[in-house]
Amino acid sequence: MIKPVLRMGNPRLYQSSVEVTNFETEELSQLIDDMWDTMMAQKGAGIAAPQIDVLLRVVIFGAPSSRYPHVKDIPQTILINPKIHVLDENTEEYFEGCLSVPGFRGLVRRPSYIAYEGLDQQGRRIEREASGFHARVVQHEVDHLDGILFPMRLANVNLLYCESEVDLAAMHKAAFMD
Ligand code: NI
Repeated sequence: MIKPVLRMGNPRLYQSSVEVTNFETEELSQLIDDMWDTMMAQKGAGIAAPQIDVLLRVVIFGAPSSRYPHVKDIPQTILINPKIHVLDENTEEYFEGCLSVPGFRGLVRRPSYIAYEGLDQQGRRIEREASGFHARVVQHEVDHLDGILFPMRLANVNLLYCESEVDLAAMHKAAFMD
């Protein structure tokens, strides 16, 4: 079911979420279905459970999205209780958006090469390395679990743009830096 997405300013978006301890439950399955439905409806590249007002450490990403064409290179993933390890010092910039910050993009600098781990819906282990847009989406979504929205990552408030003022074509081209 498509759920309302909490928006920046809602205090629940700034809280830390708790780990999932029970797998293969009806509640977890329902949550993940609702997250897919909501992300697809809003054309997001990913979504985190707190964005639909469930403070559990669950993120999904990798749905086809017209807002983020290169998301097609990312495996569709359900990632529970995720952990991220930065693998080197290189960083890159990209105009990020967020379903909780509608109408805006911000130029955010993040590590470009990471490893991440977590569990899937059945509690099986996932371990991957990621770079480029894949690495960025994972870091953005995991930030939500710690109450962090992308504007809090901006080096400077001048890097926050109205979406209509960002050249989307140039932005997508610039994303292929890996
Ligand atoms: Ni977001």
